[in-house]
Amino acid sequence: MEKSVRTRMESWLSIKSVGDLTAMPDTKTKSNARNSVSKERQKAPSAVPVDAATDAKQLQEIPILGFDYIEFYVGNAKQARYYYERGLGFEVVGYRGLETGDRSLTSYALQQNNVKIVLTSSLSPNHEVAEHVKRHGDGVRSIGFTVANVVECYERACARGAQSVQPPISETDKFGTFVSASVKTYGETVHTFIDRKNYGAMIRPGYQPVNSWAGGVGFGNIDHVVGNVEKDKMMDWVSFYERIFGFHVFQGFNASDINTQYSALTSRVMANKAGTIKMPINEPASGERKSQIQEYLDFYEAPGVQHIAVTTNNIIATVTELRKRGIEFLSVPQAYYDTLTERVGTIDEDVDALAKLGILVDRESSGYLLQIFTKPVEDRPTLFFEIIQRKSGASGFGRGNFMSLFESLEREQDLRGNL
Ligand SMILES: [Fe+2]
Repeated sequence: MEKSVRTRMESWLSIKSVGDLTAMPDTKTKSNARNSVSKERQKAPSAVPVDAATDAKQLQEIPILGFDYIEFYVGNAKQARYYYERGLGFEVVGYRGLETGDRSLTSYALQQNNVKIVLTSSLSPNHEVAEHVKRHGDGVRSIGFTVANVVECYERACARGAQSVQPPISETDKFGTFVSASVKTYGETVHTFIDRKNYGAMIRPGYQPVNSWAGGVGFGNIDHVVGNVEKDKMMDWVSFYERIFGFHVFQGFNASDINTQYSALTSRVMANKAGTIKMPINEPASGERKSQIQEYLDFYEAPGVQHIAVTTNNIIATVTELRKRGIEFLSVPQAYYDTLTERVGTIDEDVDALAKLGILVDRESSGYLLQIFTKPVEDRPTLFFEIIQRKSGASGFGRGNFMSLFESLEREQDLRGNL
């Protein structure tokens, strides 16, 4: 893939600073959106009432259009940017930091088609971003949901018992108005409701243009975002997503489905009706040795995001390019491919090419899916990425592949001395 340098200066040139930050009705005015973020750990009012209509089956779903940007808190945003840009093929579409008048944080906004991420690091040791990194290492802080009405979603979530992290704020610059609000989910992770229908630029107000090394690898959308929670807590979080968001269980895996000689996991996929949001939740299950989910929890020191799955229309091309750039993937034994056609039937792809790249295949009633998992992308064995291609309407999570993934992860866990 040819290297080129591009700039989005034409669309960003006249940004000078964030415009008006207007508080939404019934919320406190924020003089600066980032200052409001620094107060995120303020607890929500403890008297937030739980909706009387507690039967999840009866609850109206909070209308979420799809995933918005995912924000990572990292130790060094400048160097993380390089990995996501040159390694994973994102284009850097914005920057904010000292040069834009931000004295506390540095952020890079990156995008590859509909996959948007923000990398944020702290300029001082006392900021909560620094505390987050100290405790968890680099990791996901916020999973964004695009919505049509932030205030309505936020208020409905809080009325049903969600804990507020940031009340709705409206930010305006020359590209329009951007509205957001956040509520807590597992660990120190939050969901941010985002209304960008009246906002014409890539990420949100406050970012300046930067030169980017453009070299996408074919990521299309965020397919799903997976959380790891503590043992015996998974059903609490299933209930949370049912009760607060009106989501339902799309698919489940029990310990009897996914286990090895040593360990096991249990998982439930939470989804909205439209299928635009899928959020599996894993918990460790008892085994002879430590579950890989427990390894994550030990190193992240809390529940959190385990992996982010992104789609591609050509997984062979995508993974070939990623491997060329040095991205590391979990290995798959050759034996997996020896019997692949017997298990999944005829597929469009060359099995030898899949074997060479380590891509997994799983057949569903309505098609098949191809998947591959990176090794953890942080020093701690925590966050990783999945690349997925869904064919002929396959919408599941690869029950057969789940076991292969589990075995592969366990081999890596053993190498780290954590099994
Ligand atoms: Fe996944």
